[in-house]
Amino acid sequence: MPPAIDYAHYDRIRPIRWTGAALELLDQRKLPFVVEYVACTTSDAVADAIHSLAVRGAPAIGISAAWGVVLAARAIDAADAVEASVQLEPALQRLNAARPTAVNLAWALARMRAALLRAQAGGGADWRDALEAEARAIETEDLAANHAMGTLGASLIAPGSGVLTHCNTGSLATAGFGTALGVIRAGVAQGRIGKVFAGETRPWQQGARLTAWELLQDGIPATLIADSAAAHLMKTGAVQWVVVGADRICANGDTANKIGTYQLAISARHHGAKFMVVAPSSTVDMDTASGEMIEIEERDPTELLGIGGTRTVAEGVPAWNPVFDVTPHGLIDAIVTERGIVERPDAGSMRALFGG
Ligand code: MRU
Repeated sequence: MPPAIDYAHYDRIRPIRWTGAALELLDQRKLPFVVEYVACTTSDAVADAIHSLAVRGAPAIGISAAWGVVLAARAIDAADAVEASVQLEPALQRLNAARPTAVNLAWALARMRAALLRAQAGGGADWRDALEAEARAIETEDLAANHAMGTLGASLIAPGSGVLTHCNTGSLATAGFGTALGVIRAGVAQGRIGKVFAGETRPWQQGARLTAWELLQDGIPATLIADSAAAHLMKTGAVQWVVVGADRICANGDTANKIGTYQLAISARHHGAKFMVVAPSSTVDMDTASGEMIEIEERDPTELLGIGGTRTVAEGVPAWNPVFDVTPHGLIDAIVTERGIVERPDAGSMRALFGG
């Protein structure tokens, strides 16, 4: 039996706090040097926080959007759940439009709509309470899923392995503990992981600014590498597993994740390292057949034209800034979810676990 994981030690950060009056979000634009929460009291403030990356990471934006609906519900005057669902729809649409690639956003909003429908069927008087209970359930279930995935994913990793991760998939990106970073936490706690490497994740530096800081809180030493050093690192044999999160996993296992993930998967296959995707079932989108159908968010090119707000590129140079890419399922060795592991994913093995 592997040792039990001390979650109190390995999970100290909470990016999302519901106070009863406001949604407080740990402002990820300012980390690691400023640790400050922004308070959102309207659903539009939540949509803005999601769009501007104050809160980020697929599960965290889904959870935040759910609390955004709770805030929207406080701003309307509806007699029952039927009236409420009509009046709330514009706010839900604005939340949904905040970012296009992570399916968790639409998934969480669909759950909030379904909670309203259930309240309607039950008489409809307590629809505000029903929405609040649903937002809380989405958050609580995410944390439980992360704990389950941590143990499942770590079980695939042989003792003493080196792992490379990309972007930030930890407590900051979820209700807590993390997806890929949860597997890394569990793997370190169980002595399976000897060395952790984190890619810096240009241009927004989720790896350098967030993952390195987050692991430091746990006392897990992580070595930062430039994204462009990954193939060279793998060639040395230091990486047995690349472990990443996901923003959308299609019905055939194709996976959208932070830009740069695809080239890591190619490099891993070339060098004989294994490639693991870790995500809750809320990231699985069985309605999207394959990766070509995923909308890839493109952000302001100025993110690429400077570092830390200081321009480093000559005026007049154009830049292209897609912030996600799609890793084809053939390059993925394992998709780990709280429902189980899909090894060598394809349409058949995905259907076997997720139906549809
Ligand atoms: O643009 P971001 O920072 O929201 O992108 C985040 C990622 O790509 C993560 O890997 C993904 O959302 C999973 S987070 C558990």
